[in-house]
Amino acid sequence: MDSTIEQVLIDAAANARLKAYAPYSKFRVGAALLLPDGQIVAGCNVENASYGLAICAERSAICTAVTMGHREFEAIAVAASPLASPCGACRQFIVEFGKDIEVVCFDSEDRGQIRRWTSGELLPESFEFGQPGAK
Ligand code: THU
Repeated sequence: MDSTIEQVLIDAAANARLKAYAPYSKFRVGAALLLPDGQIVAGCNVENASYGLAICAERSAICTAVTMGHREFEAIAVAASPLASPCGACRQFIVEFGKDIEVVCFDSEDRGQIRRWTSGELLPESFEFGQPGAK
């Protein structure tokens, strides 16, 4: 990804993190998806008094994007502090839409702390539902 575009995506993830609803863990996470046409769709973590119902920022962003009609993603940036890489459920959720999605995780309080992978690298041998045309 072009470094200017990456910077815009990172800013969007950091802004989404400010919207996080995380009164229980206090761990705020923001995510921003880059679409092929350059649009950005963001999400944040949303927790619940019934702790297990919390939804992560990455899945929140993907659900919003899919609801808007988007199914192709070039990259996802994830903002947390300290830096957090996507949980297992989110890895499976991201790889559903491709193994070459760039995943950029950074510390939103210390932007120099940044790591990059592809979705396939984060979840090799991911589960695939072996039914042709399922998508
Ligand atoms: N969280 C995310 O939003 N993304 C991840 O990949 C890992 C964890 C959230 C879920 C919960 O609201 C908080 O971080 C603490 O686990």
